[in-house]
Amino acid sequence: DWVMRDHIAEAVEAIRKQVGDQEVILGLSGGVDSSVAAALIHRAIGDQLTCVFVDHGLLRLDEGKMVMEMFAGKLHARVIHVDASEQFLGHLKGVSDPEQKRKIIGREFVEVFKAEAARLKAGGQGHKGATFLAQGTIYPDVIESGGAKSKKAVTIKSHHNVGGLPEQLGLKLLEPLRDLFKDEVRELGVALGLPPEMVYRHPFPGPGLGVRILGEVRKEYADLLRRADDIFIQELRNFRDEATGKSWYDLTSQAFTVFLPVKSVGVMGDGRTYDYVVALRAVQTSDFMTADWAELPYALLKKVSSRIINEVRGINRVTYDVSSKPPATIEWE
Ligand code: XMP
Repeated sequence: DWVMRDHIAEAVEAIRKQVGDQEVILGLSGGVDSSVAAALIHRAIGDQLTCVFVDHGLLRLDEGKMVMEMFAGKLHARVIHVDASEQFLGHLKGVSDPEQKRKIIGREFVEVFKAEAARLKAGGQGHKGATFLAQGTIYPDVIESGGAKSKKAVTIKSHHNVGGLPEQLGLKLLEPLRDLFKDEVRELGVALGLPPEMVYRHPFPGPGLGVRILGEVRKEYADLLRRADDIFIQELRNFRDEATGKSWYDLTSQAFTVFLPVKSVGVMGDGRTYDYVVALRAVQTSDFMTADWAELPYALLKKVSSRIINEVRGINRVTYDVSSKPPATIEWE
């Protein structure tokens, strides 16, 4: 619509004016805010923007591929894909405390990003070096940054709007989404040509699968979890509610699979299995402060369970989490 087109034109003009002929770095996470910020800044200044996508090895199935296809492939933006999964997994080895895991992931994330940003700031190879750090800060973040409210707030921030990083790196801040609410950011994303499935995705925590694998994080667990979770999400998108015609993905606020590092006995053919258990979690909420578990149709649960058990060798039992928040939290860690 014209209001949005106007807004884009204005924002593009403002970015060009602020940046001039300087270079910009942006940390791309695959989430809505950083993606929309990247698309908008790219629209304004093209190759003066370099995105840095840090893959910590705790992303969903094919996430890295999707982000690269979208930004490098379709938008033709400059994107550096940093595969730091071994480094993250190495630092997480033997660590099972949830807050400790969050701290490690947050810290490593900043380390990896900082190293990449410092390299880009220095320039070279025909590059003159960056002077701006762009962030997908949105209006609610601006309000919230008054104080850390929850046990997780500090880490949440450390992923998306890395506090203090621009100063440490000697870069100026560029925050083109600062005045927008989440739904405005989504509309802007669609208007900029990002796929609606990407823009209307459920939130995904910064530490990713790191807090969805209970206890110690291992690559083997992450690989099993990624495949199980992908099946759950596929079926949530496939199943529609007859009354509204909406998919169960759109009828839930957040849905994911949790890996439980315990084994249970099962049978397959003539044999006995002794494999891992996963829990499905799906909630409905308006603010994520309180949440109800979603009354998913049995047919959906049945399909997901049978697909996971048949397709993901290593998992032989699927459970459904029927806990509301409070007293449970949405994530299991
Ligand atoms: P809980 O589990 O506290 O989650 O009910 C509320 C919302 O916050 C998300 N969440 C996080 N997001 N880093 C993030 O970026 C984190 O460490 C983190 N922990 C929880 C969670 O996915 C839910 O949307």
